[in-house]
Amino acid sequence: MSRSLRFHVFRHNPRDAASAPSMQTYTLEETPGMTLFIALTRIREEHDPGLNFDFVCRAGVCGSCAMVINGRPGLACRTLTTALPDDVTLLPLPGFELIGDLSVHTGKWMHGLAQRLQTWVHTAGETDLDRIEAAMDPDLADAIYELDRCIECGCCIAACGTAQTRPDFMGAAGMNKVARFRLDPRDVRDDADWYEVVGDDSGVFGCMTLLGCQDVCPKQLSLQTQLAWLRRAMARQGVRG
Ligand code: SF4
Ligand code: F3S
Ligand code: FES
Repeated sequence: MSRSLRFHVFRHNPRDAASAPSMQTYTLEETPGMTLFIALTRIREEHDPGLNFDFVCRAGVCGSCAMVINGRPGLACRTLTTALPDDVTLLPLPGFELIGDLSVHTGKWMHGLAQRLQTWVHTAGETDLDRIEAAMDPDLADAIYELDRCIECGCCIAACGTAQTRPDFMGAAGMNKVARFRLDPRDVRDDADWYEVVGDDSGVFGCMTLLGCQDVCPKQLSLQTQLAWLRRAMARQGVRG
């Protein structure tokens, strides 16, 4: 027997001076295989064409549909309504600029992070061919690929108490990227270089090991391992001065 689901959805347009934050409730009959993405699309088609939310891939790959689902950050396209109670509260991810309703500007935040960490392989130039073209050990390539699976959804930032109180904190997504480039043998940056970039409270030492990031990451990245590894490496670097 199908259920009647009540979706309590955050509504606000920050560019409209007359708009005040509020919650709006929509009721839908649950259908087999219904995801939150499908539910939101139906709400937009059947009830409210003005509802803002983001999606691209509908397959857990682009990271754009992240939102707070009954108090927990997650991907709308990967959340089946069968996993939820009859009442579902949907809020935009905190810690990011609000575009409208459930849509936030994670892309702007992630772009700032990429600029800060310079998330590309730094080489010593074209003369460093031995390093650039050296065959990579398959296990190492796998380990780098594992860290590259981050889809920049922002769930780890929304779930992190430090990120919510320190706008300059790079969060688990940032530390995961540092770990990724630190692991890459083609990248010439060493621990002393990374210490300059992340060896303070806006970086590695701002993490209070709250581990909300690890709990909510939809790609199940081992963020706890990266955090511990980086903290030890940066602490050693700090002691050396
Ligand atoms: Fe999303 Fe996980 Fe990447 Fe954080 S680390 S942005 S939760 S995929
Ligand atoms: Fe935040 Fe994760 Fe550290 S939730 S405090 S980045 S362990
Ligand atoms: Fe791409 Fe959900 S729409 S991850």
